[in-house]
Order: sequence, then structure tokens, then C-alpha cells
Amino acid sequence: MSSAPIKAKYLSDGDTKKDGGYNKTIFETLKFAYSPFFTRIILCLILGITGRGLLLANTNVIGYWVDTIVGKENILSGLSSAQLITLLAVMAVTGFVLTMTFRVSFSRLSAQAISSFYDEVTLRTSRLPMSFFDNTPAGRIITRFSSDYGNVFRLFGGPLAEFISIIFDLTMMIILITVANPVYLIFVVFIALMNYLIYKLNQEKLRTARRELSASRSPSIAHFAETTQGASTIRSFRRQQSFSERFERLDSHFLTQKMDTTKSLLSFSLQMNSLTALLLLVTGVSAYFMVEKGWATVGSVGVAFAFIALSGNTVQMFFEWLTQFEEAMIGVERLDQYMRMNIEQGSLLPSTATFATGHPTYSPSVEKYLSTRRLTEERNASVQVQDVWFRYREDLPWVLKGVNFDVKAGERLGIVGRTGSGKSSLIQALFYLYPIDKGQIAINTHQPKLTAATNGVDLNLYRKSMAFISQEPILFQGTLRFNLDIEGTLTEEKLLSVLAQVGLREWVLAQPGGLDMRIEERGKNLSLGERQLLCMARCLLQQAPIVIMDEATSSVDPQSEEIMVRATEEFFSDRTQIIIAHRLSTLAKCDRILWLQNGEIKALGPTSEVLPRFKNTELV
Ligand SMILES: Nc1ncnc2c1ncn2[C@@H]1O[C@H](COP(=O)(O)OP(=O)(O)OP(=O)(O)O)[C@@H](O)[C@H]1O
Ligand SMILES: [Mg+2]
Repeated sequence: MSSAPIKAKYLSDGDTKKDGGYNKTIFETLKFAYSPFFTRIILCLILGITGRGLLLANTNVIGYWVDTIVGKENILSGLSSAQLITLLAVMAVTGFVLTMTFRVSFSRLSAQAISSFYDEVTLRTSRLPMSFFDNTPAGRIITRFSSDYGNVFRLFGGPLAEFISIIFDLTMMIILITVANPVYLIFVVFIALMNYLIYKLNQEKLRTARRELSASRSPSIAHFAETTQGASTIRSFRRQQSFSERFERLDSHFLTQKMDTTKSLLSFSLQMNSLTALLLLVTGVSAYFMVEKGWATVGSVGVAFAFIALSGNTVQMFFEWLTQFEEAMIGVERLDQYMRMNIEQGSLLPSTATFATGHPTYSPSVEKYLSTRRLTEERNASVQVQDVWFRYREDLPWVLKGVNFDVKAGERLGIVGRTGSGKSSLIQALFYLYPIDKGQIAINTHQPKLTAATNGVDLNLYRKSMAFISQEPILFQGTLRFNLDIEGTLTEEKLLSVLAQVGLREWVLAQPGGLDMRIEERGKNLSLGERQLLCMARCLLQQAPIVIMDEATSSVDPQSEEIMVRATEEFFSDRTQIIIAHRLSTLAKCDRILWLQNGEIKALGPTSEVLPRFKNTELV
């Protein structure tokens, strides 16, 4: 394994790691999650503590029994041996049944509460601004939703009930020891203090170690994912060696963290074990003197001794669970952080979101109304772009600098410009995928409503009026049918007829499974041209008044290009079209051409004027 130093930025998952305490908001979040089950949870807890109490109180009954045998009067002195045995049996069985009921019901409710938390995090994360996804490596997001969430669910969905049982046990032990003889309260306080001290000494170290551990996992996962995705590039550049070395370094960092965490845990456990042994010795010796002096009965000493012996084990279990609990809480904290980020401007959460995180949310009636609405019932729409200044982040240079133009309803506008001139960025701006710093864009003069204070139409409704084929054709893992018709509302005939229009019908029918053929992740089992044609088909099916194509035909052969151009002519003939293309032949039939240069409009006019000028200037 290589031991070269690694740059810090690869090691952390980019979070600012806090030392010590949690964010206060996570308690609020847990309250949101559990509040729908509040009464049932309280009922469960009452059952649970009663159950544990009944089971442990057997020790006290036996203590009284012993005292009766040695001639000391007490509340149970009147009972016969048979009655006592029956009492013990009834307490044990009832205690067991109540404990089991508590565990099963509590775990069920808790699992529901935590999965509602997960849903709420997903609802918000999917609406975070594009800049979040630009700046956050996918591996980091995946870690939150897999390993961090796993830690949370694993504990809350089951062992949390066990953890609470242990707390019940400790509480009941204190109560029952006091009932047996209040003098032992001094012991209890002393034992509690000693345990707490040892825990405090270790807590900081354990918590930090666990945080480091969970943060050191995602860089190696991210690197691994990147490597598998870029496998062919890495091989062709023969860089396997350096990639695997970097993975080894990241992974060995993770393993070192893991070993450190285990070491801290082991040392903690050893300290606790030694403490229990010591306490038992002290209790044993002092009990002897207490009986001798007549301060305690034999029965009560028995009770105290039993509980103190038991408590050593229980306290240790408590702290073991506590560290697991803390790990789960770190998971909650990490997901909570995503849940509380600002979502994209203009986006609203669906009405099913219930956690009060201050994000704007649709009311059910508005949501229902919008689901059936379109921005326009016409077959096309106009676009107004007014003095738009656009950049991807505040610290990056302007990509569009005061762009100003209109597209008339039903017009076909071609966009040309050198690589990097801002063509695709203009489309990002049209969709309001990034905040527009200055200027505005409207469809049929409707701007999207971006803040509570401004007027405008719903952002989703606004976006729905544009169908888009991106420069990188995106397909999803699943069937071909799913990729064409994500909502699953269209008939087989409709799908096949559209496939025929892009010239893929015969090809699809020849595939195993036909329309149900499998598409792999990002469509990697298809050629780039095939992917473009399928995206075109998907776009044809959307029936939006504005159709935007960014290099939609760049990777298909001339015949396919002709089919696509003809299909767009036929199908989108009365729609508004915005077409970006490097191959100028594709743009021949446009009404007007917009020429972008360094984020500014160099020319805008009839195709017959602008296209030759562009050809003569830029392509010489
Ligand atoms: N997500 C992004 N974050 C930051 N900068 C970006 C991002 N996408 C593009 N850019 C920058 O914006 C500028 C314009 O890029 P854009 O993709 O709009 O060019 P383009 O005209 O579509 O080029 P091409 O013809 O190669 O597709 C480039 O300088 C690019 O580096
Ligand atoms: Mg582009």
C-alpha cells in the first residue's frame, strides 16, 4: 500500500465537521417524524416500562420472601409459598408479554417515523438548486442516502426499542432498590457518577472518531464510482496504476479511521468492565457491615446486590447502545442538513410534505388545479428574453451578457456560435435552472414566480411548456417504454408510431423484448445516435408548445439526420422551435438565426443573411 500523503480535500467529504454536540434542529426533525404517532408511542412506552418493572420486581418479591423466612415481618408475610410462586409467575409472564408488545409496536412505529423522514429529505434534496449538484460529488450524496441513512434506519427501526428497554431497566432498578432500602440510593448515586465520569472521558473521542469515519467513507466511494464510469478512458490512457493507487490511499485512510474507532471503543469497554468489578467488591464488603449493624435486612441486601451486579452489565450495554445511538444521530444530522438547505428558487414542495422546515409548499387545492393546467392551450407560444445576464455561480465570469431577443409564436429560431459561446447556457437560462442575476425571460409574457414577493406563473407550469433534447441525450435504467413514457399513460400504437417517425420502429421491434427492451444506466447499451433518436421520440410525445433541441442531430449519420430533420419539420411544424446546431445544414430551414459570440448577440436576422455571414466569419 502506498503511504504518500494525501491532500486534505480528498479525505473529507466536504462537510464542516463540528466537534461535540449535535445541531439543535435534529431534535425538531425527530419531533416532526414521531409526532403523528405521539399517543401510540406514549402508550407503548407505558407498556414497556411496566413490563420491565414487573420482570425486575421479582427480585424484590424474593427479597421479601427471604426476610419472611428469617422472621422479619413485611407486606408479603401473609402469603403462602404457593401463593408467592403464583405471584412470581404471573409477574414474569405479564412482564414478558408487555415487554414484547412494547418492542414490536415501538419498532414498527419508529420505522414508519424514520421512513417519513427519509421521504421528506428526498422531496427537498430533489429540489435543491442546480449549483448544489454541480458542486457536490455524486458519491457524497449517495453516501448520505445509503450508508448514513442505513445507520439511522438500522437503529431506529429496531434496536432503539432495546436501548429504551435498557433505560427502563436502569430507572426501575433505582426505584426498586429504593423500595428495598433507601440507604442504597447512596450507592446508586455513586455508581451513576463513576459511570458517567468514564463515559464523559471517552465521549468526545468516540463521537469525533465516528464522525471522521462516516466522512472518510464517501471520497473512496466517489472515486470508485468515477473510476468505473470512466473505465474505458482510464484504460486507453493506461492510467490504471495511478487510479488504483489513489483508491488505495483513500481506502486505507478509511480503514485507519475505522481501526481508530474500534480502538477507542475497546478501551472504553475495558474501563467500564474494570469499574463494574470494583463496584461489586465495594458493595459486597459494605453489605456485610450493613447487615451486621442492623441497617439492612438480608432480603434487601440480596435485592441490592442482585441489582448492582445486574446494573454493571446493563450500564455497559447502555453505553454500547448509546454510541450506536450517537452514530445514528450523526446520520440524522447529515440528512437533516440536506433537508434544511434552501431549495431552488421558485420551486415548491408537494402538498404531501409535512415537516415544517419553512420551505414553500403547495396547498392541495392549488396542486390539484395546476396538475391539469397548461401555460397555454395553443400549439405554440412566444418567448421574450430581456437583457439577460447569466453566470453559473457568483464567483464565475458572466456567460451571457445582456442578451435581448424575442421568438415569435410558431417561429423556428436557429442558434449558432463557437464552442463555449453560451448556446447551451442560454437554454439553462430559459428553464431558469440557475438564478438569473439581471434581466428576465418570459413565455407568452408570463414570467415564472420565483419568490413569494414577485408575480408570475408557477415555475413547473412554466417549464412544462418547453420540451427539450439536451446536448447529452439522457436515458434512464429501465425499459424503453418507460424511457419514452415516464408517466405510463400512452398506448403501444402511439409509441410505435412516434418511433416510426424517427426511423427506429423496425430497429425496436427487432430487439429482444421490443418496446420492453432493457435500457442500461444512462443508456450505455445504445449508440449515441440511437440515444439521440430516442430522446427525439420522447420529445415528440410531450406535445409542448415550445421545442428546444441542443445539438440533437450531432451524432447521427446523414440519413438519420435527414429523417430527424424531416420529423421535426412535420411534427413540430406549428410549434415554436429553438434549434442549436453546429452542422449548419440542419438550420437551413430556420426562419431566423441568432448568432452568439462570447455570450453576446453578434447578429440576429433572417437565415439567408446571418448564416452565410457566420460561415464566412467563424468558419474560415
Ligand atoms: N455547469 C457549469 N458550471 C460552470 N460553468 C459552466 C457550466 N456549464 C458551462 N459553463 C461555462 O459556460 C460557458 C458557455 O458554455 P456553454 O455550454 O453554454 O457553451 P456552448 O455554446 O453550448 O458550447 P458547445 O458548442 O461546445 O456546446 C463555457 O465557458 C463553460 O465553461
Ligand atoms: Mg452546448
